Amino acid sequence: MTHAPHRIVVTRRIAEPALALLREVGQVDLPQPDRGLTEAELHEVVAGADALVSTLQDRIDTRVVEAAGPGLRVIATVAVGYDNIDVDAVTGRDVLVTNTPGVLTDATADLTLGLLLAVTRRIGEGERLVREQRPWEFSLDFMLGAGLQGRTFGVVGLGQIGRAAARRAKAFGMEIAYTGRRRAAEEVEAELGARFLPMTELLGSADVVSLHCPLTPQTRHLIDADALAAMKPGAFLLNTTRGAVGDEGALAGALSDGVIAGAGLDVFEEEPHVHPGLLELDNVVLTPHLGSATVETRTEMALLAARNVAAVLTGEPALTPVRTKVAS
Ligand code: GLV
Repeated sequence: MTHAPHRIVVTRRIAEPALALLREVGQVDLPQPDRGLTEAELHEVVAGADALVSTLQDRIDTRVVEAAGPGLRVIATVAVGYDNIDVDAVTGRDVLVTNTPGVLTDATADLTLGLLLAVTRRIGEGERLVREQRPWEFSLDFMLGAGLQGRTFGVVGLGQIGRAAARRAKAFGMEIAYTGRRRAAEEVEAELGARFLPMTELLGSADVVSLHCPLTPQTRHLIDADALAAMKPGAFLLNTTRGAVGDEGALAGALSDGVIAGAGLDVFEEEPHVHPGLLELDNVVLTPHLGSATVETRTEMALLAARNVAAVLTGEPALTPVRTKVAS
């Protein structure tokens, strides 16, 4: 008796080497055209799947598991963050969830520093001025920004990406402080020369606050109006994690009132919508969720997701499960 091949549903186009790997273990279905699926579309395409390769655009909960039917064994999100997935409920239905930690650390840290330079040195603002052919000439006090050397880079969440961003900031001559649920290992603190501070002290002393914690119920709107008011007036905020770790409305107000000096944002609460108040401001740099967007990194992310699927479908342990064990 021959078994039907595994059905692997991939919600968005992923790098070809990853598709090739998936095709070695099953039949790959990739909905066309390549765009974010509505919940109804997702529920339709997942029917009969043994594995689902998804992205942060897909809302994954038990309805997806039910729509897939009893064969579904693994959901591999091509992302490190998984706030779009109800992991407890899904793993409770014996479906393993995997993500892609590690492979996007450097790319995301690079973009964080890109935003830092762009906002402190007014690169976006300057670029707009040149492109719009507004009048300018060199002068000694023209478009002055803020220097970084000797300033404090405050990391919220010293995980892999937070550490990689801090390493880069240190290379720019910045002092490192951090806050989080727990203290980092001694050797991590020693490598970065990092000081642990409670959240309120970090907000009150850092010249740059860079968000690297995952979005959870505890971190939703962590940077609200009160937190912004607690920051130094000349400070900058960077967000490359999830928009909802900040409160976008409060941030637009704080930036326009000069409560803080500027912000660099790669993520937004309701992507692709951006709070209209932010769009009018020159002291904020806005990028469209590009943290991991390099050819190399997106290929590695897709490959890791594919390897997770291949492992689970061939009875091997997943490489990077979000939780180590499903209920069964
Ligand atoms: C991107 O935002 C990710 O979580 O990988």
